[in-house]
Amino acid sequence: MGYKEVYDRSLADPEGFWMEVAEAIDWVKKPSRALFAENAPLYEWFKDAEVNTCWNAVDRHVLAGRGPQYAIIHDSPVTGRTHKITYSELRNRVATLAGALRAKGVEKGDRVIIYMPMVPEAIEAMLACARLGAVHSVVFGGFAAHELAVRIDDARPKAILAASCGIEPGRVVHYKPLLDAAIDLATHKPDFCVILQREEEVAQLVEGRDFGWHSFQYGATPAECVPVSGDHPAYILYTSGTTGAPKGVVRPTAGHLVALNWTMKNIYNVDPGDVFWAASDVGWVVGHSYICYGPLIHGNTTLVFEGKPVGTPDAGTFWRVISEHKVRSFFTAPTALRAIKRDDPKGELIKGHDISCLRALYLAGERADPDTIEWAQRVMGVPVYDHWWQTETGWTIAGNPAGLEALPVKIGSPTVAMPGYDVHILDEGGHEVAPGTLGAIAVKLPLPPGTLPTLWNAEERYRKSYLSTFPGYYETGDAGMKDEDGYLWIMARTDDVINVAGHRLSTGAMEEVLAGHPDVAECAVIGVSDTLKGQAPVGLVCLTKGVNRPHDEIARECVTRVRDQIGPVAAFKLAVVVDRLPKTRSGKILRAIMVRIADGQAFKMPATIDDPAILDEIKIALQEIGLAQE
Ligand code: COA
Ligand code: AMP
Repeated sequence: MGYKEVYDRSLADPEGFWMEVAEAIDWVKKPSRALFAENAPLYEWFKDAEVNTCWNAVDRHVLAGRGPQYAIIHDSPVTGRTHKITYSELRNRVATLAGALRAKGVEKGDRVIIYMPMVPEAIEAMLACARLGAVHSVVFGGFAAHELAVRIDDARPKAILAASCGIEPGRVVHYKPLLDAAIDLATHKPDFCVILQREEEVAQLVEGRDFGWHSFQYGATPAECVPVSGDHPAYILYTSGTTGAPKGVVRPTAGHLVALNWTMKNIYNVDPGDVFWAASDVGWVVGHSYICYGPLIHGNTTLVFEGKPVGTPDAGTFWRVISEHKVRSFFTAPTALRAIKRDDPKGELIKGHDISCLRALYLAGERADPDTIEWAQRVMGVPVYDHWWQTETGWTIAGNPAGLEALPVKIGSPTVAMPGYDVHILDEGGHEVAPGTLGAIAVKLPLPPGTLPTLWNAEERYRKSYLSTFPGYYETGDAGMKDEDGYLWIMARTDDVINVAGHRLSTGAMEEVLAGHPDVAECAVIGVSDTLKGQAPVGLVCLTKGVNRPHDEIARECVTRVRDQIGPVAAFKLAVVVDRLPKTRSGKILRAIMVRIADGQAFKMPATIDDPAILDEIKIALQEIGLAQE
């Protein structure tokens, strides 16, 4: 069967289609049916099944004879170490860690926060939770203490698993003091913490609360896999919304297993035993789906890469890793390739490495610009597949199903909707627009298995954020169009979310931080175009009456404030003081116009603008910080 037959069947007969796909999973108790629509518009898949994720990702492969195969290859140019772990070793390591956690009281349904860099122990921590039916929430290491505290208070974890440090080029990230500060800031306190002491930095442990990773596990009885129901949350992953409060995306266990396993062959075109590499971070959804779960559920070898595309030590690192570990399919964000292209425009550094093992490159996380795609095609000599998805969906909404049927690539489009995603382009009134016309991208409910059923502790917010604008549809938050061939084109976000270096960030959250500065009366954060990172945040602040301190000093404080409160990952480096902000007559700040001014693009004066003269002032202010060039 080709793509079209499979896709059409998934929509015409979702029950039959997904029950068949589900046969690839080892169930403790098989589901009686696929879709549970009793609570529509909230849907669940395989709810009455019993299953364990860790069993499917680890133990069953050992039983099937994959014990000696590498499950994880840790390649860490920042420490100069490589470590390979077989499926048998992984099972033992995970079972022991799970046993130790259980001995300290972690049970099915308890939450565990994981705050770790790109080390195999981070994957083992996720799997140990899955083994017990505990719900993990991984927090990206580039977030500061305050962001970690917000997640601690929302998830209310029994335990936190962390490392002493992370390593960024040129600096050690002191995770442990950040963790201590977060626990101080949070209202909820975990019962205990387990700290992986790394060679690069040994952290001080808090007596009675913190345990060393290895001593904690000493003598522990290995834990068996605990069956959970199909709708049990496998994990919570916080992602940026329009406000400072992140959204806790819930991933249901059974749908996650079924969908990810399907994608490994049909989208990424790997067979069990092949090496798969997603150069992302465990703190993002790509890391959850394609560093940890997808490849392991499917019996692949996954690569855990602790480095950067450039500077560790150079722009040839990706090519070395691909050739050294015989990577079959490779997944990264366009920004990583832009960084390599900037350092090595002609791709000279690839010449020393034989990457003939590689079958294709997959890009996601942000819009893939045609220049970058064409450069990668030329330099790497493999097909480049853009694909579009979100933390909420956990797997591809639109992509090129290369393992099923490689469709012709149209550069700039992530290709077509994947099974179960009935994608529509709607106008403001919720009506379908004609092919080639821009509109809001919405997916007719139900979403397929593996996607979010709700937000953690926030069902009303889930309904309001995703289901209320277009009744009967899931609102993606992206705008775009569909062409005559059914190819999708993703153009922009419809909300205040920006995408910086493939990282999803909320301008609203940054505005909340700036508004907390004692001298700031009002502010706006906009995402301006950035040749490397896609977008970069810029803050415009108006001062409280009577403040007459130097403006550049206040701007610097704003930059420091965002870094301290949200974290370095916000990449917030530019702020400027302005007298006033452009607004509509009803008082709404005109952020989109400021973006166009900052990017040096033409714009139409909005009819509703209160005072057009403000735009000239904004332009001058932005020019002072190097933007708004004609
Ligand atoms: N822990 C602590 N700090 C981190 C971090 C982590 N895990 N990851 C990033 N940071 C810090 C960086 O050190 C940087 O700090 P600085 O301001 O002191 O330099 C800051 O956060 C911003 O990071 P980033 O936006 O990544 O910029 P960069 O200049 O360090 O690197 C790229 C640029 C393009 C090389 C890098 O962004 C990259 O590899 N991007 C790929 C993105 C990706 O994989 N996304 C996942 C979705 S698929
Ligand atoms: P995240 O939840 O962090 O994965 O970010 C999801 C958002 O990133 C999407 O809603 C899009 O705005 C953007 N995005 C992800 N992949 C693509 C892509 N291939 N093309 C365009 N935008 C993308």
